[in-house]
Amino acid sequence: MTRALPHIAAMSPYALADMQAPDGVDLISLSQNESLRAPSPLAVEAAQATLAQGMLYPDPDWTNLRAAIASVHGVDSANILCGNGSLDLIGCLVRAFAGPAQAVLAPAHAYPFFRTVAQMAQARFDTAPEDGTTVSVDALLAAAQPDTGIVFVANPGNPTGTHIPRADLDRLRAGLRDDILLVIDEAYGEFADHQAVACFDMITAGNTVVLRTFSKAYGMAGFRVGWGLFPPHIAAEMRKVMNPNNISAAAQAGAAAAMRDQTYMRQTCVMTAQIREEAATALCALGFMVDPSFTNFVLMDMGDAERAARADAFLRKRGMFLRAQGGAGLPHMLRMTVGSLADTQRAIALLDQWQQEGST
Ligand SMILES: Cc1ncc(COP(=O)(O)O)c(C=O)c1O
Repeated sequence: MTRALPHIAAMSPYALADMQAPDGVDLISLSQNESLRAPSPLAVEAAQATLAQGMLYPDPDWTNLRAAIASVHGVDSANILCGNGSLDLIGCLVRAFAGPAQAVLAPAHAYPFFRTVAQMAQARFDTAPEDGTTVSVDALLAAAQPDTGIVFVANPGNPTGTHIPRADLDRLRAGLRDDILLVIDEAYGEFADHQAVACFDMITAGNTVVLRTFSKAYGMAGFRVGWGLFPPHIAAEMRKVMNPNNISAAAQAGAAAAMRDQTYMRQTCVMTAQIREEAATALCALGFMVDPSFTNFVLMDMGDAERAARADAFLRKRGMFLRAQGGAGLPHMLRMTVGSLADTQRAIALLDQWQQEGST
């Protein structure tokens, strides 16, 4: 029998959301931080217009997409790389910059995919404690080891929803050795832009990468397009490990049009924030602890792991899928994506019902 390499055989597959609704029950998924809104109609139109040319390979340099990103964000298109979702870029970063002789470091409640990619590369995965659900720069600096190769932080964080101020990011970068690559994953950056100071300029130091995605605020998770800003020598190494035809022509065209339609994306962020704040207030009124979120989801403290599991099971039986957080070291918490007003209100009503019926 053919066997995988021992470190791959020893790994668990990355745990995606479970989408198996009970028989006969309609599923509402608030489990994957997808957008409450379809992509911009301009994005759909642009993607459709490419289909008749489907016999051709897509542009390996994402020229039109990079031009759109560069003009909207005022960055140099030469520093942009695009990926098949930001997961693709995260995977390639670890493939190129970490291996059995390095460690990958992330906050304790970081996005679980960082651990998965470290395991794939046989790199040790280290974590640093957080202050509750807020990233601690001091703890990250204290946890960096002589063999640390990459430090990942998501800003805002998933599943925490919390935000690292720019001054803290600067302090983190200044405190890390120059040869450690700092990866700032801004998958939810658009939701936080109004509070955050953009950190795209941090790539000029040569040892920091900033990632973004079209999956969240642009409502294009199914298109699979992520992008990032990379110092030139890092981009050159990345190119060697990337699939040279990684994003379909339709997805490239759709993403470029979505980027040029900033009004639509901003509206999505405003709608999301409005429903999120109403949901947070309603959940707090029901007695669930919810920290302020800078994203398109809220994280609820259910008190303990058993209560979280019981609430999750109660909702799932009725077709409402939230996301348990044991994988991020927060088994007492449930994450709820901000969905349409109706779906979000239904989730809150079910949580209310669960409590009324004795939280069993
Ligand atoms: C922090 C973070 N990074 C990256 C991703 C992956 O996004 P993409 O769809 O661009 O691969 C997600 C998706 O949930 C995320 O939460």
